[in-house]
Amino acid sequence: MKTCRIPHTELDVPRIAYGCMQLSRAWDDTAITAAEISATLKLVETALEQGIALFDHADIYARGKSEQLFGEALRQIPELRGRIVLQSKCGIRVAGDPGAGSPARYDFSRGHIVRSVEGTLKRLDTDHLDLLLLHRPDPLMEPAEVARAFDHLQSSGKVLHFGVSNHSAAQISLLQEQLEQPLVVNQVELSLLHHRMISDGLLFNQPGDTGAGRTLDYCREYGILVQAWSPLAGGKLSAGTPAKELHPAAERVARLAEAKGVASEAILLAWLLKHPAGIQPIIGTTNPQRLVASCQADAVELSREEWYALLEAVRGTGAP
Ligand SMILES: NC(=O)c1ccc[n+]([C@@H]2O[C@H](COP(=O)([O-])OP(=O)(O)OC[C@H]3O[C@@H](n4cnc5c(N)ncnc54)[C@H](OP(=O)(O)O)[C@@H]3O)[C@@H](O)[C@H]2O)c1
Repeated sequence: MKTCRIPHTELDVPRIAYGCMQLSRAWDDTAITAAEISATLKLVETALEQGIALFDHADIYARGKSEQLFGEALRQIPELRGRIVLQSKCGIRVAGDPGAGSPARYDFSRGHIVRSVEGTLKRLDTDHLDLLLLHRPDPLMEPAEVARAFDHLQSSGKVLHFGVSNHSAAQISLLQEQLEQPLVVNQVELSLLHHRMISDGLLFNQPGDTGAGRTLDYCREYGILVQAWSPLAGGKLSAGTPAKELHPAAERVARLAEAKGVASEAILLAWLLKHPAGIQPIIGTTNPQRLVASCQADAVELSREEWYALLEAVRGTGAP
């Protein structure tokens, strides 16, 4: 697997990373199971064999159980921690936290950020995170308060680098202004199906321009690694029978996959990897075979014609 350096850091990371959201699918208070532990070990080992050495977490995934399962893998494979880049996210509070009437919300207060990281480190059974991302923009964010949380986490050695997720260029800029540390990652929803950040540039000054493309340009300009979540769009363009309106795009993906002798997943990821911003897909399959098939993307080179043809198929119209 080819690697890239995250700008402003010493971290060399694979072009494709693994997202741990679904290591446990039970978002409740039940305990992790032996079956989940063994499935986690299998997925981690498969990912490592493919050269995937960046693992993405969040404090809320399965209410902490996905981190807990990964912590079990770290205990069972002692040299694992030194071989990987560990990333987690914080800032979302689910409904019912802490009291029955508490609404789902975002919380970038210093206390919550620090407490969340401490919980994550405990569940992962590690002493530091390589990367911490703020999960979703909090309208009540005070940049100076976030700065105090980041200073504390960095000076205590608990977090090495910081980033954000689902943030616009303007939101990143507002926050960055008050921080000592550079924001080095923005994790956003991005796939051939959810393509606006990439395709909006085609529509500048035309109806339909949502402005999302500005954020991709901003990240590129300031050396912020763009990570793509749901890069396979949950299988909507590659699994079984696609929805009627997605037939042309799914068919084009399947034909290209056949021509190149790879899985459809590899074509979908290669479409993201082709972009010169250096987008890093975070794949979330829980199927080891699909994980291996997805990594074929590393060896797929799409031509400009193939890349635009895929975009045309999913947009239902050609470049203006
Ligand atoms: N920052 C955020 O707000 C945010 C939000 C969501 C996710 N994330 C991160 O991004 C990671 C990836 O997200 P994701 O899981 O939505 O990404 P994904 O890789 O686009 O989708 C994976 C899901 O799609 C299914 N799938 C894919 N191809 C399939 C096929 N051909 N046939 C059947 N099922 C197929 C997988 O099922 P199988 O497991 O059976 O393969 C799995 O449930 C997460 O783990 C998390 O780390 C971040």
